[in-house]
Amino acid sequence: MLAVIGGSGMTRLARLEVVERTQVRTPYGEPSAALSFGRFGGRSLVFLARHGDEHTIPPHQVNYRANLWALRTCAPVGIVAVAAVGGIRSDLGPGDLVMPHQIIDYTWGRESTYHQGPLSAVTHVDFTEPYDRELRQRIGAAAAAIGVTIGGVAVYAATQGPRLETAAEIDRLERDGADVVGMTGMPEAVLARELGIPYAAINVVANHAAGRGDSRQGVSMDALHAVLEEAMLRVGAIIERMLTSND
Ligand code: HPA
Repeated sequence: MLAVIGGSGMTRLARLEVVERTQVRTPYGEPSAALSFGRFGGRSLVFLARHGDEHTIPPHQVNYRANLWALRTCAPVGIVAVAAVGGIRSDLGPGDLVMPHQIIDYTWGRESTYHQGPLSAVTHVDFTEPYDRELRQRIGAAAAAIGVTIGGVAVYAATQGPRLETAAEIDRLERDGADVVGMTGMPEAVLARELGIPYAAINVVANHAAGRGDSRQGVSMDALHAVLEEAMLRVGAIIERMLTSND
């Protein structure tokens, strides 16, 4: 079964027929929400709202360990993580979709590993390629099949939030090589890796990053919500195609 983690603008999957909701207990505490099991064209899918059903949990307070642990109980074949981002690269503007291929982590103070505690042996997971290549290919193929444009290369900068960045911080992220900026990509991606679950992300560009494009004077949150609403329909269509095609 495929798993989907929905972010800002996606607290539910629009056309998913939910057949069951299950609250999972984990050794790491409560996940953000109950798992929603549903069907898309006869195929099963499990959905989790990263920020809670009512969008009340800010990025730095998401219990990423509980969320990934809960999803693991369903033995998913992969996790598609949907997240809003700001566009840094000049060709990435509001409404664009992109699949990041790399991450730079600027977050701090988050519980970012399962490998800690007195009984845990020191463990280092390989994270050279943070996103699963095969799953990214499946997302790309599904998008192409329904005529939805999605970029296949982007370096994702994970910032702490919940505030947006300063213009100078965005300049620094660009110098570091980042193309998009969001607040939830880490430690989610590495926890999936630690659990051995293939993980890939669909980033929805909600706004130009601070100091860029039409965010030169500031980032408008109102415009951001309208962009997300429309773009999430395209994301939902990609996911539906992933489930219903045999590509
Ligand atoms: N910065 C960080 N996270 C975001 C942004 C942004 O500009 N837009 C949406 N999520």
